[in-house]
Amino acid sequence: MKKPTHQPLEQTFRFHDDKKEVEFLRHDTPTPWMNYLSNGTFHTMMSQAGGGVVFYKSPQIWRITRYRFFHLPTDRSGPYIYLQDRDNGEYWCPTNEPAYARPASWKSAHGMGYTRFEAERDGLAAKTVYFVGPYENSLIWNLTLTNNSGSAKSLNVFAYAEFGMMEFMRELQWQCYNKHQVSVTYLDKEALVYKYGVENQPKPDETPLVYFASDAPLYAYDGDRDEFIGTYRSEANPEAIEGDGCTNSTLLGGDPCGALQFQVTLQPGETRTLNMFLGCAMTEEEIAAALDHSRQKDFVAKSFAALTANWADYLGKLECQLPDEEASRMINIWNPYQAERNFQFSRNISFYATGTFRGVGYRDTAQDILSVIPFDQERAKDKIKLLLGQQYQDGHVNHYFFPTEGWEPVTSIHSDDHLWTALPVWDLAAETGDASFLQETVPYYDGGEDTIYGHLKRAIDFTASKLGPNGFPLMLRSDWNDQLFRVCRKGKGESIWTAMQLGTVLLKMQDLAVLAGHPEDVEGYRKMYAEQQELVNTLGWDGKWFRRAVMDDGRFLGSDIHDEAKIWLNSQTWATLSGMAEESKGIQAMDSVREMLDTELGIKKLHPSITTFPDPADPLTNYNKGTGENGAVFCHANTWAIIAECMLGRGDQAYKYYRQLIPQVAMEKAGLNRYKAEPYVYASNLFGPESDKFGLANVSWLSGTAAWMYVAATQYIMGIKADLEGLRIDPCIPSEWEGFTAKRRFRGCEYHITVTNTSRSCKGVKEIRVDGRLIDGNVLPVYPAGTNVQVEVVL
Ligand code: GLC
Repeated sequence: MKKPTHQPLEQTFRFHDDKKEVEFLRHDTPTPWMNYLSNGTFHTMMSQAGGGVVFYKSPQIWRITRYRFFHLPTDRSGPYIYLQDRDNGEYWCPTNEPAYARPASWKSAHGMGYTRFEAERDGLAAKTVYFVGPYENSLIWNLTLTNNSGSAKSLNVFAYAEFGMMEFMRELQWQCYNKHQVSVTYLDKEALVYKYGVENQPKPDETPLVYFASDAPLYAYDGDRDEFIGTYRSEANPEAIEGDGCTNSTLLGGDPCGALQFQVTLQPGETRTLNMFLGCAMTEEEIAAALDHSRQKDFVAKSFAALTANWADYLGKLECQLPDEEASRMINIWNPYQAERNFQFSRNISFYATGTFRGVGYRDTAQDILSVIPFDQERAKDKIKLLLGQQYQDGHVNHYFFPTEGWEPVTSIHSDDHLWTALPVWDLAAETGDASFLQETVPYYDGGEDTIYGHLKRAIDFTASKLGPNGFPLMLRSDWNDQLFRVCRKGKGESIWTAMQLGTVLLKMQDLAVLAGHPEDVEGYRKMYAEQQELVNTLGWDGKWFRRAVMDDGRFLGSDIHDEAKIWLNSQTWATLSGMAEESKGIQAMDSVREMLDTELGIKKLHPSITTFPDPADPLTNYNKGTGENGAVFCHANTWAIIAECMLGRGDQAYKYYRQLIPQVAMEKAGLNRYKAEPYVYASNLFGPESDKFGLANVSWLSGTAAWMYVAATQYIMGIKADLEGLRIDPCIPSEWEGFTAKRRFRGCEYHITVTNTSRSCKGVKEIRVDGRLIDGNVLPVYPAGTNVQVEVVL
């Protein structure tokens, strides 16, 4: 049976913006649709059907539960609950998966930091809320059972999690020996304790004990997976549930799990709540204390209230009402939520990324910070310092690094990595209005230290010392486009895009030099900018668009003279972002994007896709046509097209590019079973028109798309942008919009902004009144903290 691509979306999910939730009406979405539950230290990735993985700090060395990446059935295992009627033995799961018997009615929902399941079968209703609260490092499973039938119910309730080896790579390589160095024991506190005692683990002193316990009286338990599930079975039909229940097994070596069994009797109409806590602490004493705390009567409610309040406060810092429901929803809820998760997890673990080899990506994180700055300046600053600690004295940086695991970094040198940091540093200075942090010192990775400004300056120096034969920055290992290493293996290739990125950074550096008390540096930055600008507009110009790179053999990449990869998106957009493009060239380049790269589902990264270029024996990429880095719609790079069009004042075109990538909108066009990924968070890419799966979304959640889409929407379409002098208002909206409203907290003051577009233009602020008084220009003055002002903007 072939699945229809188009199924009514409203039968699969719906949004509840008032609750900041997305609700799922069926459990079998085309891929697992994930959420991240986290308190910054303890984390769970959880799907709409309850699958997922629990980890502490790092999924590479402190993974607690096992998730079987790429296995079928997909999305196993998870923290599951089984409800069994003791009279007839029938059992089912509130998560719908994985038991064979299904609930008669079911729905689930992802909210801000929690996932909820509501299900009913044979008159037994179960509501489960999973979340990680701020007070303990644990996943809380809050289960409420109600007997809606006319007779008493006696139930077995099982809560189950499969423990993996904490180091996932070791599990793949060495578990035959190391599995006998783990244990699950029973602690006097009615708790199971999982100990990962494996030799030669990277940080044994920081490795916690895992506990699994409840606030309800425990009837029985299992710590041995073979006892609970059985070997030729799965989570769908555990032996213990089909047999006589848990056997009180512990485990000194083997395949561990945590299974808790409770016996509950419910009279007609009666409701009971049970809470399970899957958490970690360093010692048994700390576990006992955590359990005493968690078992206090109001602990769960208090934890949930704090979680909700934290998110309300976070998201309350920037809210808008646009004449576009889907856009408002993304900007107010899901986009900043996704961006915060990227900031936390970099590209580490998702349904697509196994959480094994990518720690913190330097360039990825530098970009992620941009979207957190309006919400949390302290965390942003800490992250900037973390990045700068990966810089070498000569100015280059580590490509990926592992601050939690303590592993050796990936040291490949890319032309763009070290340059990115100046962008969040400038944004942070603009957000806070306080540039004193530029003087704070951060050590270099290879010894010595410097001020933050000093670090940024050395990044520029590094690029200045690595210019190629034509004068553009050398490509080195690659630039932002990871695949470009093949055109520069001999070390001669140059990146025209990096010249533009450098230009963007040099504009910021001119401000930062002054703010840091080094005005003498400005002239050098200006001169370098002018030199690169000249090159970009001469050698970099192909006639209708900007070229992408110079290959080792001296030929240009991204030129009309080739049959493949003639035009690349990034050099068109950044020509404008950097302010480098001569006006007519900037416009022509973006017109070429519209004509050659745009599709109804987003803009392709390059065109035409590569199969034989530059050499059939050694093509530039191995990606199939239209996939990944080869002619796919690369969402991250689409965000810069939105910004470029806004900078050119073309609000209708910018909005077209913005709207077509809203996941729900793209899914509506492509069809549920073609798009497949979550309709509430951005994906990294969609297969392009040269693929037979055009519209298939890939690598959702952890992608630079989140940060930049947020920047594009709020700072360029809505045009509310922190500037050094104050809050700049310069919207660029579709001409059909009558206007919009927004609220933005900035330097302690709350601005309530109403934009009116009676002239039906896209861009151009005619006048601004603050509390009724006309102001000069379009930068809102800064008022004393605590002030609320009304801002009326007329376009
Ligand atoms: C992936 C990488 C990112 C890179 C991009 C383009 O998203 O995480 O670092 O810039 O691909 O190649």
